[in-house]
Amino acid sequence: MIPTPDLSHLTRDDLEQVYDPAEDTFLLLDALEQEAEELRKERPLICLEVGSGSGCVSAFLGRILGQSSSLYLCTDINKHATRCTLATGKQNKITLDPVTCSLTRPLSSRLRHAVDILLFNPPYVPTDTGEASSAQNSANIAGSWAGGTDGMEITNLLLRDVECLLSPRGRFYLVALKQNDVPSIRSRMLEEFGLTSQIVIERRAGKEFLLIIRFTRTSP
Ligand SMILES: C[S@@+](CC[C@H](N)C(=O)[O-])C[C@H]1O[C@@H](n2cnc3c(N)ncnc32)[C@H](O)[C@@H]1O
Repeated sequence: MIPTPDLSHLTRDDLEQVYDPAEDTFLLLDALEQEAEELRKERPLICLEVGSGSGCVSAFLGRILGQSSSLYLCTDINKHATRCTLATGKQNKITLDPVTCSLTRPLSSRLRHAVDILLFNPPYVPTDTGEASSAQNSANIAGSWAGGTDGMEITNLLLRDVECLLSPRGRFYLVALKQNDVPSIRSRMLEEFGLTSQIVIERRAGKEFLLIIRFTRTSP
C-alpha cells in the first residue's frame, strides 16, 4: 500500500481557501495505485495535474514514480492552491512545479503531444452557469466544486485540449460524477478525438457516485 501524502503542514486557514482532499481525491489515489505497475513501466517524463488544490494527488503520483525520472507540473486557478501544492511537494520530498493559471493555458502550446500523465479532479458539482463563472472569476474555494450546467462546464473546457496535450502513450485520468453523464463524455471523446476510455474504479460516497475514467489514444 502506498501511503497517502503527508498533509500535516496545511493549516486550518489553508483548508478554508483550498480544497481539502475528500472522497473524490482518495478515489483518484486508489485508481493511480491500482495502475501503479503499468505507470512505472511506461516511465512517464511529463505529468500534469490540472486543478492540483492541496497537491495531494501529484505528491502521491510522485511517490509511485519517484522523483528522478519525471517532471510534475501542476496548475490551479486559485493562487492559495498553487502555494499549498508547492509546500506539499516539499513536505513529501517530491518537487512539484505549480503554476497559477486557468486549466493549461500558458502551457498548452509548449506541451503539445508531450504529456504522459494528465490528471483532473474538476469542479464537477452541477450549479447554474452564473455560479460557476463567478467562482472561476473569483478564483477562490468555490471554484473547487461549482461546475455549471451538468457539472460539466469547466471539464468541457479541458476536454477540448486533451488530445493535443497527450503524448502518443499518454493517459488522462478524469474524476466524474454519475450525473455528469459519463457515457456521453466517453462517446464524445471517442468520436471527436479518437480517445478510448475505461472506467478504472467507481464508488458511492454518501450522495455522490464517483468514477475515475482513463482515456488513451485508440490503438492503431
Ligand atoms: C475538486 S478540487 C480538486 C483538488 C485536488 N486535485 C484534489 O483532488 O484534492 C478542483 C480544483 O480545481 C481547481 N480549478 C477550478 N477551476 C480551474 C481552472 N479553470 N483551472 C485550473 N484549476 C481550476 C480548483 O481551484 C480546485 O483546486
